[in-house]
Amino acid sequence: MLSKELESALNDQVAMEARASASYLAMASWMEGEGFDGTAQFLYAQSDEERMHMLKLFHYINEVGGFALSPAVLAPSTTFNSYKEVFDKILNQEQQVTAAINRLMDLATKEADHTTANFLQWYVSEQREEEAQFNTIINKLKIIGNDGSGLYLIDRDLAGMAAAAAKASSKGFSAE
Ligand code: FEO
Repeated sequence: MLSKELESALNDQVAMEARASASYLAMASWMEGEGFDGTAQFLYAQSDEERMHMLKLFHYINEVGGFALSPAVLAPSTTFNSYKEVFDKILNQEQQVTAAINRLMDLATKEADHTTANFLQWYVSEQREEEAQFNTIINKLKIIGNDGSGLYLIDRDLAGMAAAAAKASSKGFSAE
């Protein structure tokens, strides 16, 4: 049985994942408007992924006897100064999610709620992968700077990553 404190903290995480999904959606729209269609596809896929993260938590809360709350989501930023600024903001956002997951894990461990700690382990791994992915992209962007042909190539790379992710999910890969 989920403690009230953990239930509330998990619901806070539901809201955080929903915010991340909305934020990626806004970033995708900005990229599309700037002509970076590959990056937009990648960010649309990220937005879907964050919604999946949210739903996974949502279902878990109800499954273990809590009450999942559909969160209010504040409007995210919709305009950005540069391509790189978007990715700097993404990394910052993901680092905040990692910190929140770590705090949740600390709470589950303190309460000896092994079921929840086991459930959260998936998020710990997911955050490690996401941070590594965005660090790699940012390192490439540091090399590229504002070079248009470099940004063209990275946009093409991200289109490939979005297509590979879509193919993997259509083959039945899922977080379940
Ligand atoms: Fe679900 Fe990337 O935080």
